[in-house]
Amino acid sequence: ANIKDDKISEETKKLISSLPSHTDSQGKNICQYQGCWYYYNTLQGVLNFQRGFQPQDTDIILASYPKSGTTWLKALTVALLERSKSHSSYDDHPLLYDNPHGIVPFLETDQCSSSNLAKFSASRRLLSTHMPLHAMHETLKHSSCKIVYVCRDVKDTLISWWFFGCAVHKIEPTRSLLESMLERFCNGTIFYGPFWEHLLGYWRRSLEDPKHVLFMRYEEMKAEPHEQIKRLADFLGFPFTKQEEDIGVVDKILDLCSLRNLSSLEVNKTGKRNNLNNKDYFRKGEVGDSKNYLTPEMEKKIDMIIQEKLQGSGLKF
Ligand code: A3P
Repeated sequence: ANIKDDKISEETKKLISSLPSHTDSQGKNICQYQGCWYYYNTLQGVLNFQRGFQPQDTDIILASYPKSGTTWLKALTVALLERSKSHSSYDDHPLLYDNPHGIVPFLETDQCSSSNLAKFSASRRLLSTHMPLHAMHETLKHSSCKIVYVCRDVKDTLISWWFFGCAVHKIEPTRSLLESMLERFCNGTIFYGPFWEHLLGYWRRSLEDPKHVLFMRYEEMKAEPHEQIKRLADFLGFPFTKQEEDIGVVDKILDLCSLRNLSSLEVNKTGKRNNLNNKDYFRKGEVGDSKNYLTPEMEKKIDMIIQEKLQGSGLKF
């Protein structure tokens, strides 16, 4: 392979040349490492993480398959942890001045140096990842950090990804691109895919070890936000007090983190991070939006894959 990226080490280039490889819907190279498909530069990030990350027992890792509600989960968790500090008017709240991805770095794609890990909170590190759970297994096996996974309806995730990818590359969201993405989505050869292995890894662990892995669902967060944010707060060990509930702290956090509010902030309208526009992380945020774009045949194809792959796991869509 002709690998030009100068952030990729010679050792990784050698590794890549021995791995199964493919191209994504736009012709960009991906390779399969430990069962998961990565772009070359992401693989370098995964290897850096696997070799160098030092977990702490108090770490919180927010995990997701891309386009499943990562931004929202990050905002909610930041707001939950921040409430211990006094933001009397919320004027100085970090979410007002930075995009949630700027506050909570990705383990594999942001340079997780100790300096920027300390940025959010000195006592507790809030981190995130799109890696499947097994990619973190060796690194985290002696750690009792907490992992929160957010899962979203697979069809809505695909549609969200189609729009996001097109926004990032400034191209039209054409049907042919959607078809090509669907094809790769269903055969697993897509960035961070196969999605079913991603889902199942976190799902199974959340059943085996519910104290350390919480499995959340985007649709439940939309349908019953109060219950779900309380569930998240309890899991993280920062439950809401009766007094907080009485004075409306839960509502305040939900308002602060709403798509409407976050997307109206200057930083999210005009800001950029790693060459991505912050505004592209906010679109409709609706459950079932995929119905507007997928044909019955496309839906059937996804349904069949889900049925086959998730059979017997207890995880349902
Ligand atoms: P849509 O494209 O369906 O609108 P991720 O954060 O994992 O990249 O996922 C992006 C999806 O979450 C997008 O879905 C986006 O609109 C939605 N989203 C972003 N912020 C949100 C928020 N605060 N509340 C609810 N949904 C949000």
